Amino acid sequence: SPPYDSKWLGSPISDLRRMPQCGRPLPPLKNIPDHHTVMIRTDLLQTGKVPVPYPNKFRDTWDEVHVKMPCSKSSLFPVGNQELQERWELIQKALNREFCSSHDVKNAILKYNVAHAKRWDFTVLHLFCNKDLEPEVVHHLFRSLLPEMVQLALSVSELCNKPIPLLKEGVNHSITLSQMQVASLLANAFFCTFPRRNSRKSEYSNYPDINFYRLFEGSSPKKREKLKTLLCYFRSVIEQKPTGLVTYTRKCLDRPPNWKNSQNQLTKLHITCVGTIEDDGHGMLQVDFANRFVGGGVTGSGLVQEEIRFLINPELIVSRLFTEALLQNECLIVTGTEQYSTYTGYADSYLWDGKHQDKTPRDTWQRRCTEIVAMDALKFRNFLEQFHPEKMNRELNKAYCGFSRPGERSQDLSAVATGNWGCGVFGGDARFKALLQILAASEAGRDVAYFTFGDSVLMKDVYDMHYFLTQRHVSVGALYSLLGQYYSSMCQSCFTRRPDISLYSFIYQEASSVSP
Ligand code: AR6
Repeated sequence: SPPYDSKWLGSPISDLRRMPQCGRPLPPLKNIPDHHTVMIRTDLLQTGKVPVPYPNKFRDTWDEVHVKMPCSKSSLFPVGNQELQERWELIQKALNREFCSSHDVKNAILKYNVAHAKRWDFTVLHLFCNKDLEPEVVHHLFRSLLPEMVQLALSVSELCNKPIPLLKEGVNHSITLSQMQVASLLANAFFCTFPRRNSRKSEYSNYPDINFYRLFEGSSPKKREKLKTLLCYFRSVIEQKPTGLVTYTRKCLDRPPNWKNSQNQLTKLHITCVGTIEDDGHGMLQVDFANRFVGGGVTGSGLVQEEIRFLINPELIVSRLFTEALLQNECLIVTGTEQYSTYTGYADSYLWDGKHQDKTPRDTWQRRCTEIVAMDALKFRNFLEQFHPEKMNRELNKAYCGFSRPGERSQDLSAVATGNWGCGVFGGDARFKALLQILAASEAGRDVAYFTFGDSVLMKDVYDMHYFLTQRHVSVGALYSLLGQYYSSMCQSCFTRRPDISLYSFIYQEASSVSP
């Protein structure tokens, strides 16, 4: 085993499986009604060619089960007394003009969002254009980038021709879009064109925000870095049209495993205090420490693990257009997004660090082999709360929903790349959550690569525990029962903030009678 002061412990990372090496061949890509909505011509799909939209004309739908598109004829706008005008005409007119300053951009956006003119604030955009950028860059922004982004947004009526289903609560459904379709939708989000999406009181109150108006508000330097990161994305896709596809899958777990009786053994663990999920977990199933509104505060003020991932891989952001808030037993899996930017820092110290050239190989559906699972942990205000069996089961089943792939063999599944899920903003205990994720991954037949984000003590503690448990062949069911015992004997009647005995001490005590 590696020396004590090592940067990693457990199995070498080279022992863990990654895509595309480990997966089975994919079936041919095809549209399957009520199961998989494919927005492009699958028969014309070809490596290195921009995919062709399907069908070839915009099919207008305005109902409760599809995304309401900005270019729909049913999207109407009041003008004068009781008269209505097509909102898309107004959008085209407002955006199809020369912008000379950030005020022009603001005024254009407000032309078709009149009701919000008083409330929306564009300070970030003004500061960005007038303070942050060099004059040549400002010139490029107004003369080239923004006009191209407008064209990208307006082309949505030729690109996204098939109605996009909403991924509603309780349904298993996938949507496959081309990266160009995603880019066009995101350009619309930037210019805030999506109808019915500007108010939390509207019919979309159970969906994340998609229009970017909160990105422009306030004067925080963080927002300016966000804007740089997103503009880098738009610049990249405009300079060179991406040729791949991205699949968004909402997954519900209908039957949780019988944790107590599981005889499964713990799978392999690689744990390290250096590196990140996105850099070192390539080809693995990468965990997004999500909000139930996927993407969390990416278009607003949040800037931690999930928001950063959505900024550097902006194709994730489009999931906010159609993914209803996740329920207890649901997750969202996104396959094929590309990384366009690099960054330094974290939260308040986050800085955009330049363009990234993503070299991740593509699968036969022309998707980058980057699989990201959005799973939302519970937020805890009180330390003891998380050990309650109900909460523990919720977290276990959530992680299992994210990790399990019914019908796949364990040897075909990549490892899970994760870390302190639910243990930053959401206040969970990393030692406990690590065990829950190890349980869920073991039950799903996957190994774990755990990134402690600089914490070498955590690395050692979790490694020692995993070693102790595997030496004694403690099964998933047995470990689950130990966690339950910890609650009933140490937490249930505890009146202080924390129990007298830590979870790990308790496990060492209780399980040491089992000889290795
Ligand atoms: N790779 C590995 N570990 C990381 C990385 C990374 N790239 N980034 C952060 N960590 P947090 P949560 C570690 O707070 O508690 C968002 O707003 C680091 O130790 O993002 O589940 C969502 O939208 C960090 O403290 O996750 C939700 O609303 C820890 O992971 C909410 O935050 C947890 O990161 C979720 O909060």
